[in-house]
Amino acid sequence: MATKPRSPRRKPAFNNSINPESRAYTAHVLTQSPQFKNLQIFDHPLIHHKLSLARNQITPPEHFRRLLNEIAGLMVYEVSRNFSTATYTVQTPLEPAPGKRLSQPVTLVPILRAGLGMTDGILRLFPEARVGHIGIQRDEHTKLPVHYYSHFPHDISAGPVIIVDPMLATGGSAVHAADHLCKLGCDKIQMICLVSAPAGVQKMLDAHPSISIYTAALDRELDQNAFIRPGLGDAGDRVFGTPA
Ligand code: PRP
Repeated sequence: MATKPRSPRRKPAFNNSINPESRAYTAHVLTQSPQFKNLQIFDHPLIHHKLSLARNQITPPEHFRRLLNEIAGLMVYEVSRNFSTATYTVQTPLEPAPGKRLSQPVTLVPILRAGLGMTDGILRLFPEARVGHIGIQRDEHTKLPVHYYSHFPHDISAGPVIIVDPMLATGGSAVHAADHLCKLGCDKIQMICLVSAPAGVQKMLDAHPSISIYTAALDRELDQNAFIRPGLGDAGDRVFGTPA
């Protein structure tokens, strides 16, 4: 009987020690894209179930927001697997016990507006994370990113940074955000997005090959308006209930 080919192993985004057992487990949840070495695709029934509901055009904003936050929470559980920890002693009611804590400050960077739709879901799991905001809007005509706002923790470069955006289309917004973070000295950057297009992943690979992108789906293509197909429509409008 032919044996099923194994999924390629996930590469850690940066070099923290991972125990081999947890890496084997992760290989079942994340699949390394054979096409893009910077892309990890979630292969989890719960994430795909929720993503399909989010794609549905009749899903109203209140459910769309909830789904995005739930998916983001599930994703960050895996994306944070490589974060470094320090050991310390915790006093239980009975005796001292070995404990662990995250040893570096973690910063989420949602790309406004739509990235905000995933941020609460991550904070629910990760209440210690700080949030730095970057406002980038894609120009309707040129499709180029227009930067209109940013505000970050002063020591953002002291720890891992997760760029959060439901959509990676042309990649202009993500590359712009990553350029900005690199200028601030950040060197442990990862990105979470719900749906991505091949053109955007390639653009990130060309500009920032060391940044791992974690996505729920690599969609087929961009259309002539640079919308992701099949996609989920305009995530910002769907999160905030504004008309497209
Ligand atoms: C969307 C989306 C991304 C960007 C992706 O935001 O949330 O930030 O477009 O496109 P790109 O990869 O081609 O740059 P949009 O510009 O619609 O702003 P909004 O979130 O305020 O709606």
